[in-house]
Amino acid sequence: MSYPYQITSYEQYNQAYASCEKDPQAFWGSVAEHFRWKKKWNKVLDWNFREPKIEWFSGATMNITENCLDRHIEELGNKPAIIWEPNDPEEHHRILTYKELLFKVKQFSNVLKNNGVKKGDRVCIYMGMIPELAIAVLACARVGAIHSVVFGGFSSQSIADRLQDAKAEFIITCDGAYRGAKDIPLKSVIDDALIACPFVKRVIVCTRTRTPVSMIKGRDVWWEDEIKKVETHGNPDFPAEEMDANDMLFILYTSGSTGKPKGVVHACGGYMVWANYTFVNVFQYKPGQVHFCTADIGWITGHSYIIYGPLSAGATTLMFEGIPTWPDAGRFWNIVDRYKVDILYTAPTAIRSLMAYGMDYLVGKDLSSLKVLGTVGEPINEEAWHWYHKNIGKEKCPVVDTWWQTETGGVLISNLAGVTPEKPSFATLPLPGVHPCLVDENGKEITGNNVSGNLCMKFPWPGILRTTYGDHERCRLNYFSTYENLYFTGDGCLRDENGFYRITGRVDDVLNVSGHRIGTAEVENAINMHAGVVESAVVGYPHDIKGQGIYAYVIYNGHHGDETLARQDIIQTVTRIIGPIAKPDKIQFVTGLPKTRSGKIMRRILRKIAEGETTNLGDTTTLLDPGVVEQIAGLRIKGTLIRIKD
Ligand code: WT7
Repeated sequence: MSYPYQITSYEQYNQAYASCEKDPQAFWGSVAEHFRWKKKWNKVLDWNFREPKIEWFSGATMNITENCLDRHIEELGNKPAIIWEPNDPEEHHRILTYKELLFKVKQFSNVLKNNGVKKGDRVCIYMGMIPELAIAVLACARVGAIHSVVFGGFSSQSIADRLQDAKAEFIITCDGAYRGAKDIPLKSVIDDALIACPFVKRVIVCTRTRTPVSMIKGRDVWWEDEIKKVETHGNPDFPAEEMDANDMLFILYTSGSTGKPKGVVHACGGYMVWANYTFVNVFQYKPGQVHFCTADIGWITGHSYIIYGPLSAGATTLMFEGIPTWPDAGRFWNIVDRYKVDILYTAPTAIRSLMAYGMDYLVGKDLSSLKVLGTVGEPINEEAWHWYHKNIGKEKCPVVDTWWQTETGGVLISNLAGVTPEKPSFATLPLPGVHPCLVDENGKEITGNNVSGNLCMKFPWPGILRTTYGDHERCRLNYFSTYENLYFTGDGCLRDENGFYRITGRVDDVLNVSGHRIGTAEVENAINMHAGVVESAVVGYPHDIKGQGIYAYVIYNGHHGDETLARQDIIQTVTRIIGPIAKPDKIQFVTGLPKTRSGKIMRRILRKIAEGETTNLGDTTTLLDPGVVEQIAGLRIKGTLIRIKD
């Protein structure tokens, strides 16, 4: 495998950027030449941000799995595609070569077909990080079904919402999943979700933990039994479905400022080119290297940089089932040592947490195979950046700070490892084809350097989202209507004297907790479900490990006189409704919330109080009852606030 479009010098980056700006169609057309198409495009790009309508490679047909698997067989058939490291280091790891992975994907494609899955059907995947998850994702893509992977930390209620929104009739799950010392009973969570989803026709259950499960006749089948049927009667081959480049490849739900998660939709052709192009360029992948992305496939990072980016590039991707701190905080370093990992891609929250465990866990670990380090998910503070660079990269590995979003499909702003300059806590420069701009509140572009504003994009890149599932208007309103003719990211950003970008965090009502996006409205809705809660307001506050913590102000009239018990009940409710990832870190009981005369909660004030500011709270004169603020701030000072432990 060679990558003729890999940028290898700063000068070349500047040239590529300029030539893409001058003629994007010619630029992406020539990159796309290096993929396998069944039919070539008649137009590279057709777009307007008004509707929005974005089409890449119109008229072309292809299947992403032929690009991830079939086309590599001749050269890389016996090379490892996936190295799988289990949760328990005592359990045996697994290696799937490209040949084996293709075989298994074809086999499971047959299983899907036998179970009635057709092109365009939505398949919800709720599994732990085992190779069968990657196989399920790829098999969906091979048969042309639209996968919607839901992270294993979401509750049955969240799954039901997503199943209903996507009208998904098929589910692939496991009996359970291992995560550190915990077993998560995935199938039983699915069973609860399905009470509200009678339209689900088939649940395919893969064995992992042997957790007892109830299999419903006519609806639930075992993965292993279905494979056996294919082995004995089936055709071991499965020709990849011919997909239009603009057909949907997957849906991935993500939080926004409203209470309801959006189903971000990516399309086959553009997403493939972008996942591959960014993988090859940002990480500077060289054939034969081992790429270890520590994300879960339930998030976009796992989609793009565990599965589609690396496999389309013929890379070896390392998939890890566990967590960084179990059995101890040396887990990542053992894996790097054992598999001679070349590229390590993780989240700032993981770095901060491992940093807090101290240097003991690094003793005796050989990290000399590492060539490139990466971070993603949230702004990285300089302290964590330097710790990572010094202690993990031994000051010889470039660190790429990759800024992107579920909606962007792949990295938009990042240094290219060792090729373009790096600057701690800066994502630095846009990739070719990416045209960031900063705008003020009124949508006026802020030009020049040493400025900050709201981050927007002026032009589409191949990996841009196409719609939000089932509701195109929502996509327009969310991303394309705040500022005319621009894609709005929801992030604040500054551009330094050299034109380098530094993302400063969300400017909407979205929190970033341990690199996971959580809408404050969603958490409020969940808290308000509790019978004793009258009203609530949720804001973020700086958290040493998580980046942002969740701070909830709650008006409560429940029967518990005991505040600690009331807090536990509220936390339990949020866990039930959304999942453990959305649990509030702090809950403060209040008698009122600061509201304007029109009834809008003044979050600015609540945010300041959550941050520890109690006196300088800005203008409160527009409030209906300014007294409420003093009361809330007063309780904060007196320390009646009780911290909730994880
Ligand atoms: C939001 C997107 C992209 C995969 C993981 C998160 C924040 C992401 C960075 C970074 C500063 C970052 C932004 C963005 N973010 N990467 N390198 N520096 N902030 O995907 O859940 O869609 O969240 O994560 O706020 O908007 P996501």
